[in-house]
Amino acid sequence: MDEDKAFESDFQIFPNQDFQISPSLMLEIGPGRGDFLFYLATENPTEQIVAVEYKRKRFEKLIERVGKRELKNVSLVLANARGAIPELFREGQIGKLFILYPDPWPKRRHGKNRLLQTEFLKMVCEKLQKGGLLHIETDDAPYAAEIESSLKEITSLRPSQVTATRTIRTLYEEKMRGKRIFTFVYEKC
Ligand SMILES: C[S@@+](CC[C@H](N)C(=O)[O-])C[C@H]1O[C@@H](n2cnc3c(N)ncnc32)[C@H](O)[C@@H]1O
Repeated sequence: MDEDKAFESDFQIFPNQDFQISPSLMLEIGPGRGDFLFYLATENPTEQIVAVEYKRKRFEKLIERVGKRELKNVSLVLANARGAIPELFREGQIGKLFILYPDPWPKRRHGKNRLLQTEFLKMVCEKLQKGGLLHIETDDAPYAAEIESSLKEITSLRPSQVTATRTIRTLYEEKMRGKRIFTFVYEKC
């Protein structure tokens, strides 16, 4: 793995804490520059918001930005979500989980690197509360098709009637303006 990314078994948490004792939290995987994370934290001041990002430089920048915005309800984790989520959270603990524009790995031979495959989605689904939401967006049509077929395999998830609205665009989304966006909002039943 690149030097600048966290290893699957190596986490750094800021500020340091044990998430297992939280009754409930919201999670974002891959916040990048943090646009959506800051929006989420501001809109939900009484919720604990956790973001897992595996690029060290991005994680360090996020710590700075969270500090500047004085967002007291945000926790940041430097880790690969694949290894970190099973370790850090309890079953049924997450109220809402957001994954906006996961790396698409468009080359066929890189497809195995895609994060959102059935096994991973099943694992995160176990961490969701009953009635909890999983919100995924991508602009990559083949990845969207793969995500949709994985979601359909998970019997404890069903498409949600909730249509999440937000007033900000993430950096990645801004770059993709004009492209078709595939949005999946699923609910744990
Ligand atoms: C394409 S960017 C999108 C960033 C942001 N969500 C946006 O919409 O602008 C994907 C982000 O996910 C992070 N990421 C990718 N795989 C990850 C993993 N396995 N664990 C944690 N973060 C990951 C990348 O470092 C990057 O910041």
